[in-house]
Amino acid sequence: MGQLEITPLDAADPAAMAAWHAAYHAAHVAGRAYSTPWMLEEMRADLTADRPGSRSLGFSGHVDGTLVTTGLLGLPLMDNLHAADVEVHTHPAHRGRGHGSRMLEHLEGVAREHGRRTLRSEAATPYAGAADGSGHPHADFLLHRGFTFALGNVMRVLDLPADERMLQRLADEAAPRHAGYRIRQFAGPVPEDIVEPFGALVGAVQTEAPTGELDVEPEVFDAARIRADEEVFAASGRTKYTTVAIAPDGTVVAFSEVAVPAHDPGRVYQWGTLVLREHRGRRLGQATKAHNLLWLQRERADLALLVTYNAEVNRHMIAVNEAMGFRPVERLGEYQRTLG
Ligand SMILES: CC(C)(COP(=O)(O)OP(=O)(O)OC[C@H]1O[C@@H](n2cnc3c(N)ncnc32)[C@H](O)[C@@H]1OP(=O)(O)O)[C@@H](O)C(=O)NCCC(=O)NCCS
Repeated sequence: MGQLEITPLDAADPAAMAAWHAAYHAAHVAGRAYSTPWMLEEMRADLTADRPGSRSLGFSGHVDGTLVTTGLLGLPLMDNLHAADVEVHTHPAHRGRGHGSRMLEHLEGVAREHGRRTLRSEAATPYAGAADGSGHPHADFLLHRGFTFALGNVMRVLDLPADERMLQRLADEAAPRHAGYRIRQFAGPVPEDIVEPFGALVGAVQTEAPTGELDVEPEVFDAARIRADEEVFAASGRTKYTTVAIAPDGTVVAFSEVAVPAHDPGRVYQWGTLVLREHRGRRLGQATKAHNLLWLQRERADLALLVTYNAEVNRHMIAVNEAMGFRPVERLGEYQRTLG
């Protein structure tokens, strides 16, 4: 058997991109009932994007001309400049030969070249397993290579359409708690008149949701970043459906949004839900989530499964999700490693 050769992926080359994605996808779905791989068009849009907020780099590992392992490096560019996100996927037929380890070392080297001192990564493990994922090869791969467990998330799914009366009841029961607040909804790009306050909400999600031991800063979402990201969503075939709550004084204080992928038919992914601190305790999280889903499933009868991830310690959000009928299916651990 020849040596592993690692080269940068040219995501604009259709054949190279398709081969990379095929190996990544096979590795991502192997042994998992509810995996959430990115589709080819989504990955291509991400890897070819020229946007202010972040940059993604792909790497291919070949042995004797066969693509056996893939690497992905994410570099935040407007915040979290100390960090890099790394992902390694080895095709199931080529595991246990050191390819993944070599790819991880390679990504570490590139992260160092970009001046990053923290590597962040994720591993999907069975729900019935340990909270930190240990004992499962996906997590052990990281834990045996200097990463420490930083935050445990649980992936939950909800079959659609959800019971409309239940959703309406959740919205109605929350309503008296935020009398005077208004609900506003939009599909696709954020309306121009609320782009700034909306960016402040989205930027706070990373640090306002539980962070465990993660070494993270709030994200910066100015109008330029939001608009550039919207172009990448469009190129990816993703449409966002968003519900915001507006306080009596006109400020945007809460949001909940989902993304519907054109290239992953039937699926919909919950993205952020956040209520500004000063406006908590008024059931605005429950209200925006229930209103968003009621609206979504009237608009999109083609959807079969809503997927969400929550930190295991996020009791409030999980209670809302459980009331909606979500069921836990898998764990997603977040791990990090400080580069010496
Ligand atoms: C995790 C993953 C990337 C590992 O890929 P891999 O190519 O099998 O990785 P390696 O071969 O380098 O290491 C895997 C195991 O094989 C063992 N191994 C490494 N070289 C070996 C060799 N030459 N002979 C036999 N075994 C070997 C290692 O000890 C390692 O075990 P450990 O993690 O308990 O220490 C792969 O399982 C995968 O794609 N999983 C899905 C995606 C994922 O979870 N990635 C991890 C987070 S980024």
